[in-house]
Amino acid sequence: MSEQATERKERKGKVVAVQGPVVDVKFNSIEDMPDLHETVKSRSFDKRDIVLLVAEHLEGNIARCVALSSTSNLQRNAVAAASGATVTIPVGDELFGRIINVMGDPIDGKGPITGLKRMPIHRDVSRVAVNVDGLKGAKAEVLETGIKIIDLLFPVVRGSKTGVIGGAGCGKTVLIMELIHNIVDAHEGACVFAGIGERIREGNELYFEFGQAGILNKIMMAFGQMDEPPGARFNVILTGITLAEYLQSTGKEVLLFMDNVFRFVQAGAEISTLLGRTPSETGYQPTLSSEVGAVHERIKGSISAFEAVYVPADDLTDPAVVAIFSYLDAVMVLSRERTQLGLYPAIDPLASSCSNLDANVVSRRHFDLSQELLRILTKYDELRRIVAVIGIDELSKADRTIHERARKLQNFMTQPMFVAEAYIGKKGQYVKKEETLDGVEKIIDGKTDNWPEEELYMIGKLE
Ligand SMILES: Nc1ncnc2c1ncn2[C@@H]1O[C@H](COP(=O)(O)OP(=O)(O)OP(=O)(O)O)[C@@H](O)[C@H]1O
Ligand SMILES: [Mg+2]
Repeated sequence: MSEQATERKERKGKVVAVQGPVVDVKFNSIEDMPDLHETVKSRSFDKRDIVLLVAEHLEGNIARCVALSSTSNLQRNAVAAASGATVTIPVGDELFGRIINVMGDPIDGKGPITGLKRMPIHRDVSRVAVNVDGLKGAKAEVLETGIKIIDLLFPVVRGSKTGVIGGAGCGKTVLIMELIHNIVDAHEGACVFAGIGERIREGNELYFEFGQAGILNKIMMAFGQMDEPPGARFNVILTGITLAEYLQSTGKEVLLFMDNVFRFVQAGAEISTLLGRTPSETGYQPTLSSEVGAVHERIKGSISAFEAVYVPADDLTDPAVVAIFSYLDAVMVLSRERTQLGLYPAIDPLASSCSNLDANVVSRRHFDLSQELLRILTKYDELRRIVAVIGIDELSKADRTIHERARKLQNFMTQPMFVAEAYIGKKGQYVKKEETLDGVEKIIDGKTDNWPEEELYMIGKLE
């Protein structure tokens, strides 16, 4: 296991080739060769430390490495020393409110983080014994999010994985931020945010948003954003998970937010190409499913995960998206059509799914209402096409009622968000689950039949 590497002493080699983020380091003898996942440290011409991660062993005692930081100004023949350890990050309560990069170095300008215990980010968890006691029919505990459509159709169970999936600009980041805003405050445990390959600006916004909401003291952040080399974007997800595992080991309930898991896969594909591996016929790295699997296998126990997943070209059959899908308990698919209609959050209930929407997890009433809502929306989908051809007046009275109620339900499922105030100019609303159920019940029972449908758009609870 990688921890064994910790015991090896430092060995020196030198850089023999630099190809963008891939660096070859030659060592004197086979004994000196670093292990896979061991870090090798070098310095650029302008005296900047560069950390490399061993990815492959080549002939002639050459270790092919992937850089975790930019390799600009790294020269051939520069001294590179195998550190004897894999990437480790500091862990401890001092990290609350701090932002670290993939290697655990602070990037928030609030001074160094020193004197803490360190944990390796690469760990093999496949042989960790299963805690059998934890498997015995523990009652699922549902976390309220205050977002109507999520509480109704995608109940968030502690320890589950929820995916927010959608094409560019469909509102994934906004929804993840709203979830953080709504649940972190009420949550007794701790949170981790991993920013993977997304905009740097968003990292700043997030930081200030958390500061304003007064939740910085409950959250640890790890960022490997767009501007960083693929090695950083690929591994930062493990940095985030390691923080979550540390918090879990202190007995805390952990919420882990990741934006964006697709970028992790994409960075893996870039690395694979740079290492000269032949892609599989889907165009992705041949190791796609094992990489996605290895990451998700580490998210378990009391860690509840929320993952934003970008869908390239709005194609839900994209192999990367499919690989991630299979590990999620709830999949919320954001639809472009809904964003165009201003129906935020743009979750398409008919394209999404949730294995926790079950009468054993939620109340009978909740389950029945959700199924009735889905039935009405499915029917509406059919009627919509008919109406487009023959007009609404040709529908039977019963169908017209369903059509109208469906539109009202659809509007009621929209909600102004705290973090989206700037976009729609409306104050955010937190709606308790019971209020959501009451509202849905009223609409289904026809109590709002003579309301104009606009009155249900972008509101909180039904007054
Ligand atoms: N709940 C919402 N209410 C109002 N406007 C929203 C909402 N969600 C998203 N938007 C609008 O959509 C835009 C894009 O949202 P967001 O940045 O969350 O998309 P994304 O899916 O994360 O995109 P990308 O894949 O590019 O990261 C926002 O800037 C905002 O204008
Ligand atoms: Mg985004």
